[in-house]
Amino acid sequence: MRRSVFAILIGIGPCLVAGAIFAQDAPRLRGPEPFTTDTPAPPMARQITDDVRVGRNYPDQPPVIPHSIDGYAMDLNANKCMSCHARKFTEQSQAPMISVTHYQDRAGNTLGGLAPRRYVCVSCHVSQTNAKPLVENAFTDMDAIAEPERQPERGRH
Ligand code: HEC
Ligand code: HEC
Repeated sequence: MRRSVFAILIGIGPCLVAGAIFAQDAPRLRGPEPFTTDTPAPPMARQITDDVRVGRNYPDQPPVIPHSIDGYAMDLNANKCMSCHARKFTEQSQAPMISVTHYQDRAGNTLGGLAPRRYVCVSCHVSQTNAKPLVENAFTDMDAIAEPERQPERGRH
C-alpha cells in the first residue's frame, strides 16, 4: 500500500513541475487579469474592406475576406456569398470562384453543386481586420530562407 502511494507521488511530481513551467510560458491571450475577474471586452477591430486580396500565410488557409459582408444573408433559403462566388456568376461579378474543393464531399467525390459542409462560408472565411497579433511571430517564409537568389524582387541582389 505504502509503496503504491509512493509510486503515484513519483509519477505526478514531474507532471506538476512541467505543468508549472508550461503555465508560465503560455501566452496569456486573455490579458493580465486573472480569469475570475470580469473585464470589459476590447473594442471590435476595424474591418479592412479595400478589395485587395490578401496573401495566404500557409497552404490551405481559407483566404480572408477583403470586402464588407454586412447584412449578407446566409440561411436555409439564401446564400448571398454564392450570388457572386458561384462558378456561374463569376463572369458578371468578377469575384474569384470558390475552389473545386467547395464542390467536393469529404470522400473527395465531386458534387453537382456547393458541398453542404462548405455552405456556411464564414465558419472558415473571416473578414480581414486591423487587429494586432495576440502573440509575437517571427515567421520567415521558406522562399526567403532557402533560395534568396531567386527572389530578386525582394532586393537581395
Ligand atoms: C457582390 C459580390 C460579392 C458577394 C456577395 C461576396 N463577395 Fe467575396 N469577393 C467578391 C469580389 C469581387 C472579390 C475580389 C476582391 C474584391 O474585389 O473585394 C471577393 C473576394 C473574396 C475573398 C478573397 C478570395 C481570395 O482568394 O483572396 C473571399 C474569401 C470572399 N470574397 C468571401 C466571401 C464571403 C464569405 C461572402 C459572403 C459572406 C462573399 N465573399 C460575398 C465579390 C463578392
Ligand atoms: C470548411 C471550411 C470552408 C468553408 C465552409 C468555405 N470555404 Fe472557401 N476556402 C476554404 C479553404 C481551406 C480555401 C483554400 C484552399 C482551397 O481552395 O480549398 C478556400 C478558398 C476559397 C476561395 C479562393 C478560391 C481560389 O481559388 O483562390 C474563395 C473565393 C472561397 N473559398 C469562397 C468561399 C465561399 C463563398 C464559401 C461559402 C459558400 C466558402 N468559401 C466556404 C475553406 C472553406
